[in-house]
Amino acid sequence: TKRVAILISGGGSNMVALAQSMCGDHPARPVLVLSNNPQAGGLAKARGLHIPTMAIDHETYGVDRTGFEAALQKALETARPDIICLAGFMRILSPQFMEKWDGRMLNIHPSLLPKYKGLHTHARALEAGDAEHGCTVHEVTAALDDGPILGQARIKVQPDDTPQTLADRLLPLEHALYPAVLARFACGDRTPVILPA
Ligand code: GAR
Repeated sequence: TKRVAILISGGGSNMVALAQSMCGDHPARPVLVLSNNPQAGGLAKARGLHIPTMAIDHETYGVDRTGFEAALQKALETARPDIICLAGFMRILSPQFMEKWDGRMLNIHPSLLPKYKGLHTHARALEAGDAEHGCTVHEVTAALDDGPILGQARIKVQPDDTPQTLADRLLPLEHALYPAVLARFACGDRTPVILPA
């Protein structure tokens, strides 16, 4: 089975969805949940699921990314993941860091990429008057929120939507999409998953 490390910064609901999906004859299993934020609510959830956890606080490393990334790299080298899933991980990783994990790192982003890379995706979709919005799982490359798309899920934007209602409606779809992509990816299948099917 493939070893999966999941990187989080916050509540970790996507991490929980991924972890819970890896059961039975699933081709992968979680070996580490790692957070850059020691206060991340997802760490306790991971411990509740009996997954080893680790916090590497980026704030203790100052403005230079090098020290933080070296610590992260060391933790990952020890965990030896075949696949790394970024799940609400809110630190930008340098191209040098990514090089080591090229082709093995996935990310979920709350927009229909290539639209709205970066932050505040729900507000930006509303401001643009988009009729639909969604989320994307993609392979991580050196460029931010770029890389081959492995899956997308879409929702219709309603006239009374706010950034919060969009986020609330999208999150359950993220929880369906990310495990579906991971299950394929762990078998070497990069055919995009499109939801609703
Ligand atoms: C999710 O909506 C995810 O798509 C988003 O953060 C949330 C994390 O929630 N990711 C990004 O914005 C990445 N730039 P979770 O911690 O409950 O999974």
